[in-house]
Amino acid sequence: MRGLYIHVPFCRQKCFYCNFFSVQYNDILANKYIHALLKHAVKFKNRKVDSVYVGGGTPSVLSLRQLQKVLQSLYKIFDLSKVREFTFELNPESASREKLHFLREIGVNRLSIGLQSVEDVSLKFLGRMHDFKTFCYVYDMARRENFDNINIDLIYGLPNQTLKDWKRTIKKTLVFDSEHLSLYPLTIEENTRFYGSNIVTCDNVQRNMYDQVVEILASSGYSHYEISNWSKQNRESLHNMNCWRNFEYVGLGAGAAGYFKRKRYKNVEDVGKYIDLLRSGYGAEVENEYIDDRVYEMETIILGLRLLDEGLDIRCFKKPRYYNVLLECLEDKTLKIKDGRIKLAKECVFIFNHVASRFV
Ligand SMILES: C[S@@+](CC[C@H](N)C(=O)[O-])C[C@H]1O[C@@H](n2cnc3c(N)ncnc32)[C@H](O)[C@@H]1O
Ligand code: SF4
Repeated sequence: MRGLYIHVPFCRQKCFYCNFFSVQYNDILANKYIHALLKHAVKFKNRKVDSVYVGGGTPSVLSLRQLQKVLQSLYKIFDLSKVREFTFELNPESASREKLHFLREIGVNRLSIGLQSVEDVSLKFLGRMHDFKTFCYVYDMARRENFDNINIDLIYGLPNQTLKDWKRTIKKTLVFDSEHLSLYPLTIEENTRFYGSNIVTCDNVQRNMYDQVVEILASSGYSHYEISNWSKQNRESLHNMNCWRNFEYVGLGAGAAGYFKRKRYKNVEDVGKYIDLLRSGYGAEVENEYIDDRVYEMETIILGLRLLDEGLDIRCFKKPRYYNVLLECLEDKTLKIKDGRIKLAKECVFIFNHVASRFV
């Protein structure tokens, strides 16, 4: 088992753009959830894990005691002696020195912090609970607690955001010299406050912003290793790399997805039902699909093409149906070949979905 993903489905408040599964944090509910989560984890007792990713939701919204309970138990349940990367998602408004100190001490060696914007007006517009000053304070605190592998999340292409605003945002973000950056174009998702409002985004503007950031980060020492992810040398997210390499991972918690023993599954997206299912001794999976060879090969290609530097071994395309599409893509230069590896042409990153759909 390579990866372990733990979902913490609680947030202080729902951001206006977000449709990731989470509910409002509540101390009592969170205690019950943790109990269920650990019961779930025991089903995989003693398994050796390479990478752990605690995401959400907002994992940092848990109290220090709750964090201690979850993480100390994970160390008892799994064999984490060989973990290379242990990521924890942190929101500025719910971080504290005590929490950071505990996380570092227990073995978390990578933080992913949601900054989203450096402008307080934009943070407010997005429904974020923090301001830029709080982020700066928390980032500095994390460095002081010896976190030397930090990712920053940003969202671009907000309505009324100009190319100039975006360049200023990148410049300000670069000052932090983080090891990793995840940059996402704002998408208006169903079941969010933005959906159905009159908020619109513009593909052309987002495309220009993307091109701009690709250029700036290339000359700032970051490698563009995945469509939305940039890192300093050897600071790629191992956990996410393994997902894109189509390796197995176990997803624990309400709403978490997993891929284990050729089965893709999703746990129930309901905190109450998740707790009840685990309490009654049942599993929490509500969707699962056996991945046969055909689907496995297709998924390996589609996921692997996201890895812009690594690409895929040409042997992944050995079946005639993939080989023919590959030849077409090489011909029209959407894909390229180098040293036996097939890679997405960097100019085609923004039309990735279209390229991927040719292999379906
Ligand atoms: C699931 S969120 C969890 C991270 C953490 N709770 C936070 O808020 O910082 C992961 C990231 O996805 C991005 N994201 C979520 N919804 C998005 C949307 N509709 N458009 C663009 N980016 C989005 C944000 O950058 C966010 O930090
Ligand atoms: S972006 Fe993060 S904090 Fe905001 S609602 Fe989504 S998961 Fe929660």
